[in-house]
Amino acid sequence: MSSAQTSGQHRRAPALRTSTVNVAIAGATGAVGQEFLRVLEQRDFPIGQFKLLASARSAGKRVSFKGAEHTIEELTDDSFKGVDLALFSAGGSTSKRFAPAAVDAGAVVVDNSSAFRMTQGVPLIVPEVNAEALSASGIAIGKGGVIANPNCSTIIMLVAVHPLRVAAGLRRVVVSTYQAASGAGAAAMRELEQQTRQVLAGEAPTCEVFSQQYALNLFSHDSAMQANGYNQEEMKMVDEARKIWGDPAARIAATCIRVPVMRAHAESITLELGRAMDEAEARQVLAAAPGVEVVDDREHNRFPTPLEASDRDAVLVGRIRQDISSEDGRGLAMFVCGDQIRKGAALNAVQIAELML
Ligand code: A2P
Repeated sequence: MSSAQTSGQHRRAPALRTSTVNVAIAGATGAVGQEFLRVLEQRDFPIGQFKLLASARSAGKRVSFKGAEHTIEELTDDSFKGVDLALFSAGGSTSKRFAPAAVDAGAVVVDNSSAFRMTQGVPLIVPEVNAEALSASGIAIGKGGVIANPNCSTIIMLVAVHPLRVAAGLRRVVVSTYQAASGAGAAAMRELEQQTRQVLAGEAPTCEVFSQQYALNLFSHDSAMQANGYNQEEMKMVDEARKIWGDPAARIAATCIRVPVMRAHAESITLELGRAMDEAEARQVLAAAPGVEVVDDREHNRFPTPLEASDRDAVLVGRIRQDISSEDGRGLAMFVCGDQIRKGAALNAVQIAELML
């Protein structure tokens, strides 16, 4: 896959080696669930039968897909009869509760939640980084099994860092994130919009999803704080990257911050590489990397932004420069933006499914 194919607009699914695939989406009414519909349609994924599942609250709602109307059904243990591929994005507890039923029915589950990411034997896949771990697992359409989709911040970081790691080796990563509302779901996006209106109108903001004012503010990520002083989101970036790279000793430290942005995450990333690399070489490596688009126009002060990354497949990378605090030329700094709902969730999951076509 060249960066030209993944930049700008959306690539189609590869030519089919199997017949059509019967697909179910668990969490079809959510922010990621809705994006699954767009990505599957844009990439012309070879769908046979199609089931849209959500909670009892949504049962009976109508959703259009490829010009046809589909009715949302309640997710139950019996939902997966005849399903080949179940894309889950309905939260960790729903995945834990219903993924076993899907696998028992013979489906491959690609799970967007954190429920199974660190489970031994469950492949955790970013196609640009470790597609081989999926083939090694033996999981295939028709055989069943669970595949985990990594955390959105992990995916976006790895698409940008992995090619540099391959080119020069990697000693250490320090990353700070600027994370969008979408990572906390559709309700969080609505809350950011509502709070913005309220604050601009001089009203007190309604805080239901988040415990504090989000509009015109930013705060440390709302996931649970751990004993080591890092929050859960930060430790996901560390633990998941280690699993994906197969390197339990990979040195990574993260600071995760929520910013009042709708759907794309930004990350400031500083690397200590295995050897010296100048910025020209780094730019060359990144320009050739799958899933990456370099946006690095110093003359016009134009670099990646969450708005420009929104609704795009590519992870945008810019501010590519030497880390001047590093003495030996191994330090490299960059600024990265990626659509959290798309490459951080729905697109990555569909790309995983495409590896099995
Ligand atoms: P519903 O809309 O019926 O509540 P988001 O991540 O944007 O918050 O979306 C969560 C998704 O997960 C929604 O589609 C939601 O459906 C679905 N969901 C939440 N809880 C359950 C459940 N217990 N069973 C099935 N779907 C669920």
